[in-house]
Amino acid sequence: MRIKQIVLLPVILFAGTVNASQTTQPRVLVAYFSMQDGNTGDVARAIVDASGGDIYRIMVAEPYPADDKVRKELLTQQIEQNILPPLAGQAPQIAEYDIIFLGSPVWANHLSQPVKSFLAKYDLSGKTVIPFVSHSGGGRGKTFSDVAEMCDGCIVDTDGWSSWGGGRQRGIVKWVQKKLNAHQ
Ligand SMILES: Cc1cc2nc3c(=O)[nH]c(=O)nc-3n(C[C@H](O)[C@H](O)[C@H](O)COP(=O)(O)O)c2cc1C
Repeated sequence: MRIKQIVLLPVILFAGTVNASQTTQPRVLVAYFSMQDGNTGDVARAIVDASGGDIYRIMVAEPYPADDKVRKELLTQQIEQNILPPLAGQAPQIAEYDIIFLGSPVWANHLSQPVKSFLAKYDLSGKTVIPFVSHSGGGRGKTFSDVAEMCDGCIVDTDGWSSWGGGRQRGIVKWVQKKLNAHQ
């Protein structure tokens, strides 16, 4: 009987360790805006694949006009006057997540207006927020520091992901894994 207990003890302890490591896996939400679910959407999907997190596409309440000229005028006005467009629907319960990967296209060197709306609308305090952006050659600009400025009480990781265009994201699996490990 006594021998049985001695043999079983390490097994029980090991099982406990495995169980504990499973329960500390951070819960991940990947929230992003992308005009036509294009470049930033590609990065978001790569992060979801690498993290197993949930995905949420930020949408504006009034869709942007399909006509290029009209849309450009509206975007210019929103950017110049820093108008935060109302958002459609409701994001998943933020309280249920530990890490929010937050994605935006770069607009005039800053976060897109809908992502600013998202930061204004939802309380992300206490959450680890990791920005990712896509651009067309101008780089990430001030986007990461925008998140840090707008996200009250968040733990913003300004070592974000920046992508020129969309498509395949070389190295993103390693990057995501590094972020998840850092959170354990
Ligand atoms: C209004 C507006 C402003 C932009 N400003 C910049 C910029 O400052 N720098 C840059 O590299 N790209 C800029 N771009 C290009 C987008 O950041 C780029 O195409 C991005 O990958 C689009 O992502 P999406 O397909 O997810 O919307 C701008 C695009 C728009 C519509």
